[in-house]
Amino acid sequence: MTQYPSSENKKNLSIIDLQAMKQKGEKIACLTAYDASFSAVLDQAGIDLILVGDSLGMVIQGKDTTLPVTVDEIVYHTQCVTQSKPRAFIVADLPFMSYYSPEKAAKNATQLMQQGLAQMVKLEGTKPEVIAFLVAQGIPVCGHLGLLPQSINQLGSYHVQGKEKSTADKIMADALKLEQAGASLLVLECVPAILAKKIATQLRIPVIGIGAGIDCDGQVLVLYDMLDIGVSHRPKFSKNYLQNASSVTEAVSNYIEEVKQQRFPSSEHTYQ
Ligand code: KIV
Repeated sequence: MTQYPSSENKKNLSIIDLQAMKQKGEKIACLTAYDASFSAVLDQAGIDLILVGDSLGMVIQGKDTTLPVTVDEIVYHTQCVTQSKPRAFIVADLPFMSYYSPEKAAKNATQLMQQGLAQMVKLEGTKPEVIAFLVAQGIPVCGHLGLLPQSINQLGSYHVQGKEKSTADKIMADALKLEQAGASLLVLECVPAILAKKIATQLRIPVIGIGAGIDCDGQVLVLYDMLDIGVSHRPKFSKNYLQNASSVTEAVSNYIEEVKQQRFPSSEHTYQ
């Protein structure tokens, strides 16, 4: 029988593993990474999912927003991350204006998967027709709702979303639409904990929160925020894990432990 070994016989996590974790009630610990060295450190600490996010525009390139990030840049950083052959599941962001039509999305997602070796692509907003098209071509998709950083020029500032009943109902309805379109994961950013709990309960797919409270199926943070590296202000929902650790590996391990034991996020990192 043909064998399909993963590199160095190390089994790479799949979306099926992450979905099984949701069913068992085991929290999914995620962080962003953009290079091979940090990817190896995260993997050694036991991270479940690495997101090559377009946040790299802000934390690596020093830009004010994520908008200038290009597909080629995400491909390059995804290649760096996958070069360390992590056990973690790898998701890469489709950057601003790279998925305005199903065909455009498919072309760019192909690059992220064929050249970057991403296992899934993430896109912001409610685009069920794009998601359905990608999924039909065999491209797994992670949705992203709540605060959408690529829409900063429409939002005006980075602030909590879904505080009013009408906007909360819309985010809930959009989450169901994305799941129906075939998304297999959802990132929920900066929404009240009660709304995130409702969404995580109603959806079958894992819901990964960032500033979305303790009841999500997993948590993600921007690596540079939780290591307190960089020039930008650390958001309320993030936590400095380096201050009580003697190394980056220990900081990441502490984060993973707190996510798994549901000690992070606490109320000070949560929107009510
Ligand atoms: O780009 C990114 O890092 C993200 C996270 C904020 C979820 O999308």
